[in-house]
Amino acid sequence: MRVLGIETSCDETGIALFDTEKGLLAHELYSQIAVHSEYGGVVPELASRDHVRKILPLIQSVMDTAGVTAADIDGIAYTSGPGLVGALMVGASVGRSLAYAWKIPSVGVHHMEGHLLAPMLEENPPPFPFVALLVSGGHTQLVKVEGIGRYQLLGESLDDAAGEAFDKAAKMLDLDYPGGPHIAKLAEHGVSGRFTFPRPMVDRPGLDFSFSGLKTYTLNTVAKHKGPSGLPDEQTCADIARAFEEAVVATLVIKCRRALEATGYKRLIIAGGVSANKRLRQELEVALAKIHASVFYARHEFCTDNGAMIAYAGAQRLAAGMTEPLPINVTPRWPL
Ligand code: KG4
Ligand code: ZN
Repeated sequence: MRVLGIETSCDETGIALFDTEKGLLAHELYSQIAVHSEYGGVVPELASRDHVRKILPLIQSVMDTAGVTAADIDGIAYTSGPGLVGALMVGASVGRSLAYAWKIPSVGVHHMEGHLLAPMLEENPPPFPFVALLVSGGHTQLVKVEGIGRYQLLGESLDDAAGEAFDKAAKMLDLDYPGGPHIAKLAEHGVSGRFTFPRPMVDRPGLDFSFSGLKTYTLNTVAKHKGPSGLPDEQTCADIARAFEEAVVATLVIKCRRALEATGYKRLIIAGGVSANKRLRQELEVALAKIHASVFYARHEFCTDNGAMIAYAGAQRLAAGMTEPLPINVTPRWPL
């Protein structure tokens, strides 16, 4: 089965073709970062308009790269939530309409299910069951995964998502959006141990997270070391970035280990934008080796939003006979 995947939930138009026998045939991503950068965040109306402009040329280009025509496509999967409603409607309308015109089934995919299954696109994917840590700009969740669609929430952030915390800390240090990669880069030059930031909620039992206290701590530390430029000196900024990143990573690692112990599972997958973080990957490998467990993640470009993860998740759902009726629906707020 060959499935066209469409992702338009936020500020990236992601298109891919996945073949259940041959794997990923082609994928492309158009990022709107430049469109939103002067506003310091995503402007929903501008996002929708840009998806409308880019989506069909991108679909054509992916089909050309894969060397397939409409007749070779068996189904269409599009992100139907959660996300920005206007942006979601673009992908859903185009996906559903192409399926109608081409007389093939289509299916709406949960964006976080897409992220969760992205490591399955890699060589040696983990067999079920496993624990998943979903860490993106909008979510921080630990999920017990028994199979496709069989998800049990074990814990989540009670306030900011991990990615959101990275983005806000980056803003305090005058770094660009999205802040995660910039904090990570700056932290490489930081001195470990000059600052020690709190590890929120680690001494309480349970698997929930909280990152808002860490955000306040970062803000206070930046204010305390502020120089004439309005920011701390370069080295201090790097030391703050280092302490911040270490605190987030340590918190995530402790909770992942706890989730594996609670379920008795030996496999963890990490997914979503923050799973691209190198320190998180390294620290998890070390911590999990100690309990004879292993960690799986997707290649860098499939950690953040992309069409390949939607094509993959949709292919699993279409293969199980799930399809969408003709009316076009999206679900901007939608628990996994
Ligand atoms: O999954 P994603 O692309 O979009 C959402 O669905 O939210 O995640 C984006 C988030 C942003 O908050 C970004 O700062 C964060 O992932 N991120 C990172 C890294 N790369 C992206 N955070 C920490 N380290 C990174 N290397
Ligand atoms: Zn995402």
